[in-house]
Amino acid sequence: MEVIMAKKSFNTKAIHDGKLNCNQESMSVPIFQTVAYKYSDAKEAAEIFAAKKQGYTYGRWDNPTVNVFEQRMASLENTEAAVATSSGMSAIFLLCHQMLTHGDEIVSSNRVYGGTFSLFEVGLKKMGIKVNWITSPEKIKTWEAAITKKTKFLFVESPSNPSLFIADIPALAELAKAYKIPLVVDNTIATPALQQPTELGADIVVHSTTKYICGNASSLGGIICGSNSVIEEGIRMGPLRYLGPSMAPFNAWLNLNGLETLAIRMERHCSNALAVAQYLEKHPKVLSVNYPGLSTNPYHKMLKVNKIKGASSLMSFVIKGSYDDAVNFIDSLETIIHATHLGTCKTIVTHPASTTHSSLGEKELLKAGIPPSLVRFSIGLEDEKDIIADIENALSKSGKNNKSKKTDNYFPSAI
Ligand SMILES: Cc1ncc(COP(=O)(O)O)c(C=O)c1O
Repeated sequence: MEVIMAKKSFNTKAIHDGKLNCNQESMSVPIFQTVAYKYSDAKEAAEIFAAKKQGYTYGRWDNPTVNVFEQRMASLENTEAAVATSSGMSAIFLLCHQMLTHGDEIVSSNRVYGGTFSLFEVGLKKMGIKVNWITSPEKIKTWEAAITKKTKFLFVESPSNPSLFIADIPALAELAKAYKIPLVVDNTIATPALQQPTELGADIVVHSTTKYICGNASSLGGIICGSNSVIEEGIRMGPLRYLGPSMAPFNAWLNLNGLETLAIRMERHCSNALAVAQYLEKHPKVLSVNYPGLSTNPYHKMLKVNKIKGASSLMSFVIKGSYDDAVNFIDSLETIIHATHLGTCKTIVTHPASTTHSSLGEKELLKAGIPPSLVRFSIGLEDEKDIIADIENALSKSGKNNKSKKTDNYFPSAI
């Protein structure tokens, strides 16, 4: 009797999927630290270059270790193919370069990571490409109104960094299909362990693998997951070759190791973050907390719409008081690390007003929903009680410049 194997689930795929294009077998995928490959004769070289025979050509185009990571990511994002890149930004740039030309347009949510905002606003503009920004991305009608004959794709980051906007991905996918254009989703913050955009109708998924996928701040990386025609025939045969933002083999190996524990890490990221958000929400020195996992958050209901398994670990909160209170709080933390990063095993605190957004004046900061006493956390995998104890201790030392009222609302853009 023939035994029919059940379809594999996430963790099994995250640990086993992807095969080397050679006869070697080893428990850990080997790091092929090479740029070139030997051919047995000229015929074989010609056939490999013409994609008539399986094999590798040159490090900028393909590498066995990187290729296993690409296969595994395609499997986890349910796409035909994936191409790994040197960073999250180079993934988004490469995709734009492949899909757009002078005179084209895209429609994008304005709740995107700062680097993506600059790429679209400065980089694409320089190349004669127009971005129609959606300032109320929860309103699907505003997306439709921004689509023109020149629109080549819709772009959304969900959940977004840092505002934690959560889009209605199924509704955006339906809209994109109606206009026969692809929907691109930046899935960095949720990762495929929590959210699978293609299951919701999206066509292309991009990631900064630098964050949760790698998981320990040890390597920059990015990936684009999509159809064979966009990824293999398009990007790999084209701009990956002549632009060259390829992922290094060692970084692919770090990411493969990261994927093996991704789902279990995301579960813990979510439960620790929810515990911290619930603790902060009740704290008398905290004005407001922005975390979509809280039932009081305006985007909480979107978790169900997008079938997200958890709200990930990014959150922000406003301390009662001033810039100095936020800085005092941060300087009083002992276990939590002060850095500008997210998605690692270690809990990270960031003060946007003095670092990532320091070029904005006070008025611009408030317009962007970033008051001077806003603090961002990427909650890690330490024991929940130790994270909360560190926060409790630091909060007990801050708040000396307390002038604000509990009712002040500092998250206009998120609401
Ligand atoms: C949502 C999102 N997309 C893209 C990027 C860019 O990734 P990278 O830093 O790997 O270039 C970031 C970086 O923080 C991000 O948060």
